[in-house]
Amino acid sequence: MYKLHPDNFEGYWYFTIKNCFSDQQLKNIEALIKQSSPEEKGTMSKGEDKLIRTSTIRWVHPNNQELSELYQSLIELVHAANNTHFKFSLTYLEPLQYTEYYGHEGGHYDFHVDDTIMLTHNNESRKLSFSLLLNDPETDYEGGDFLFRRGGGEIEKADISKGDIMFFASPVPHKVDVVTRGTRKSLVGWVRGPCWK
Ligand SMILES: [Fe+2]
Repeated sequence: MYKLHPDNFEGYWYFTIKNCFSDQQLKNIEALIKQSSPEEKGTMSKGEDKLIRTSTIRWVHPNNQELSELYQSLIELVHAANNTHFKFSLTYLEPLQYTEYYGHEGGHYDFHVDDTIMLTHNNESRKLSFSLLLNDPETDYEGGDFLFRRGGGEIEKADISKGDIMFFASPVPHKVDVVTRGTRKSLVGWVRGPCWK
C-alpha cells in the first residue's frame, strides 16, 4: 500500500506519493516498456537555435496485459492524489511517456507547461500531470532536478526520490534541469478532463 505524503504539498504546486514501487518493480517497469515501445530520439527547439528539450522518449500504450496492469496502478494513484488534494474533474489518462535524459548530451527540458492551447480538443485539456522517477538521483545521475517556476518567478525544486510519483496541475511551469552525469529516467503522464472554467 502506498503512503500519501501531504507534507510535500506546500500550498499548491505539487503533491508526492512516496515509494509507490519497489526497486524490483521499477526495474520491471523499465524492462517492460523497453520491450514494448520503440525509442524516439530527438530534440525540440524554439526559435533559431535554443534547444528546449534534449531527451529520448518512448510512447507507452496499454496494449498488453502487463502494461494494462501498470496503467491501472497509475490510475489508482491518480485517484488517490486527486481525491486528496486536487479535486479536479478528470476523464482519462493519455498514453504515457517514458523519458531518458543523458548526461553525455546535456539532457534537459526547459521551462514549459503541459496544458497548452494546442492540446485542447473536444473541450478537454490536460489538467493533472505526473512524473514517476524510475532511478536514483543520489547515485544514478547528477543534475536533472525537477523545478517549478512560481507565480512571482521564484524557482522551487521538487523533493522527489526514486520510486516516488509527483503530481502537479498541468498549467504550472516546470522543467528538468540539465543532467551532467549518468541518465535520468522517468515515466510521465497527463490526465485529461473538461476544460477549465
Ligand atoms: Fe512537462
